[in-house]
Amino acid sequence: MKTNFGQRLPLLLKSALLLGSSLMLAGQAGAAEAYTERALRNYDTYCVQCHGINRNGRGINSRDMSVQPRDHSDAKGMGDIPNEEIFRVIKEGGLAVNKSVLMPAWGNVMNDEEIRELVAYLRFVCKCGSTN
Ligand code: HEC
Repeated sequence: MKTNFGQRLPLLLKSALLLGSSLMLAGQAGAAEAYTERALRNYDTYCVQCHGINRNGRGINSRDMSVQPRDHSDAKGMGDIPNEEIFRVIKEGGLAVNKSVLMPAWGNVMNDEEIRELVAYLRFVCKCGSTN
């Protein structure tokens, strides 16, 4: 399924407002959490070229990469990664969690709050809770 989360956001926000709760997304059983506009913007700026416009690991860079970027829409694969590991891999890069150096570190680009927001956004994208 081709889904552009960037385009879906306004619709989701509108339906959330219609239902009178902007935390509707967070309320769904074991699934999505609320996320910020800033997280969406940061993803579309810094992550999309590898992880893809559809968040499935098929960004324009991925074709020539020896290690394929993680499919962020994969509930099983992402569900196996604890929040703190996701935070760490974004902040310190792939090597910090024994993954590929092809996953860059973003600690000099984003502050901790922005990274936490990205973790929440990734939980929304994978529609999976965290294991801890
Ligand atoms: C230059 C390409 C590239 C960019 C840009 C990039 N990533 Fe990655 N990312 C990768 C690759 C490659 C992997 C797979 C590493 C592996 O499996 O060894 C990965 C893996 C991950 C993982 C899974 C880590 C794990 O423990 O399995 C997460 C989460 C992630 N990236 C988040 C992000 C976020 C958020 C951004 C933007 C801030 C981003 N990535 C930007 C290439 C990239």
